[in-house]
Amino acid sequence: MSNNILVAVAWPYANSQIHVGNITGSYLPADIFARYHRLKGNRVLMVSGSDAHGTPVTVRADAEGLKPLEVYQRYHAGFLDLFQQLGLTYDLFTSTHTQNHFKVAQSIFLALMKNNFLFTESTLQWYAPTQNRFLPDRYVEGTCYSCGYGNARGDQCDNCGTLLDATQLIDPRSKIDGSTPVLKETKHYYLDLGKLQSDIVDFLQARESYWRSNVLRQSLGQILADGLHGRPITRDLDWGIPVPVEGWEGKCLYVWFEAVIGYLSAAIEWAQIAGQPDAWQDWWNEPDAKAYYFIGKDNIPFHAVIWPAQLIGAGEWFNRIFAEHHDKQLTLPFDIPANEFMNMESKKISGSRNWAVWGLDFLTRYDPDTLRYYLTANMPESKDTDWDWQDFLNRNNNELVATWGNLANRVLSFAYKHWQGLVPNPGELRPADVQILASIEAGFEKVGTHIESVHLRAALFETMALATEVNKYLDTAAPWFEIKQDKTAAATTIYTALRAIDSLKILMAPFLPFTSERLHAYLGYTQPLFGEQFMETQQDSLGEHDVLRYQDGHGSGSWQASQLPSGQVLQQPAPLFRKLEESIVAEERARLGTP
Ligand code: MF3
Ligand code: ZN
Repeated sequence: MSNNILVAVAWPYANSQIHVGNITGSYLPADIFARYHRLKGNRVLMVSGSDAHGTPVTVRADAEGLKPLEVYQRYHAGFLDLFQQLGLTYDLFTSTHTQNHFKVAQSIFLALMKNNFLFTESTLQWYAPTQNRFLPDRYVEGTCYSCGYGNARGDQCDNCGTLLDATQLIDPRSKIDGSTPVLKETKHYYLDLGKLQSDIVDFLQARESYWRSNVLRQSLGQILADGLHGRPITRDLDWGIPVPVEGWEGKCLYVWFEAVIGYLSAAIEWAQIAGQPDAWQDWWNEPDAKAYYFIGKDNIPFHAVIWPAQLIGAGEWFNRIFAEHHDKQLTLPFDIPANEFMNMESKKISGSRNWAVWGLDFLTRYDPDTLRYYLTANMPESKDTDWDWQDFLNRNNNELVATWGNLANRVLSFAYKHWQGLVPNPGELRPADVQILASIEAGFEKVGTHIESVHLRAALFETMALATEVNKYLDTAAPWFEIKQDKTAAATTIYTALRAIDSLKILMAPFLPFTSERLHAYLGYTQPLFGEQFMETQQDSLGEHDVLRYQDGHGSGSWQASQLPSGQVLQQPAPLFRKLEESIVAEERARLGTP
């Protein structure tokens, strides 16, 4: 039976480039998981997009003298380019700046209102009379009331680390023009999390047995310790989604509140583009559908507490408001396998100081599967990990090239040369042949179980261990000696090795899709393993937006051991990976800025 699996991937802020820490934190694990499930025959919907609104984008726009729209468009275009080059198979990668997303986000807001989970409250906020606007907390600077540091930001003091109450700042000044702001009353909508607390606790407890401990700690643990309280979900800001209530002009939905709604709105947009406008319901309204959220550890409370609260609180009313006919509940997260962080050469990554390896820059010098391999082998699944250029070189040369690439290349070349480019006839298999094929076959279950529980490093190491086993098998059988005495015996060995490699190709495919696809062709298959990924432009009343789309179409791979037919016509092989020079370590380290 095929299952519906929603692969929900963190939405990158359209205010900076993407570095390797971001990639290994959420985008890459999501893609590995999605590709595996497609090979398994499940119905996958993988969605995300650019997080286009809020102060992260306006702050960057102010700093560069651009409009927020221009900032969002520039970074969004870079994301599409990177994700396509890296082979991230989003069924849809869109953005929050679409008419569809505005409508879906406003419908969630209205459904929460209808169900009495919103209330309003007035508070004091800094206001700049020089500009007739309220200043978000991070637009105000002043003296820290905790340590006396003179350049504290409204939301946080970088000197003593205290999270500040912006209204208590001493000698406040506007970051925009240095003018002195005044405190002015402002009214906002709040999400009544207190009212939803027992539902949230039930939701979390039902998942306690299998969630990662860091995720549980920041959700259930926090709630049991401190309880849940109302949270403001609107802001005095003009770059974003208008609050859909009369008299609230000039206020927007809080960026976090609306960005998470993107998981739902992107599914709806995908269905519209696909010409099956109701198809999103197969993931969002089906009790059996499973939703997995791939995020970094800094995003846990919003995904594990607030987003489920929005979904529970909006409930069936969302469908009545949005779809005008349906009355089902919306699917809650099944798992949120949040990752820890990756450091750079033992120091915290810093984009602004260029202490980072940028995805697009990396791909100008190296291949995407090399990056995917290293990032999976070092994925911060249970603790922070480190990108280290020496380690990168070693893993590429000693593992990817030596263990896997050379295995595939020497067997294929040998077969190509001695059996006229055909898969040899195996004759009768001997115990050692049967045994190696059996271990590979058993690998499908083992690797699959690791991937399903999102232990991707373990899945990759299991797969590499199988490649090592095949290398040992070959060294023992030594077909290059066998062929001198007994070509039939050598044919049995080479057939067995080719079939093992054909299976390994599938086991490697979620991690190394580009080289697996090439190997698939060398082995003589004419249909590709995976479908096609492309960019296209969508039009709506907010203008046009480019999206990335994956279509399974001609993909023919499936998660099972190879039955390689003898006589299949091979293609002339070439090495799958490049051995890297020792000198790149120093060169790459010299490119880094300052930690
Ligand atoms: N843009 C935010 C971040 O990069 C949030 C991502 S996930 C979202 O941290 F769903 F909330 F958008
Ligand atoms: Zn301070």
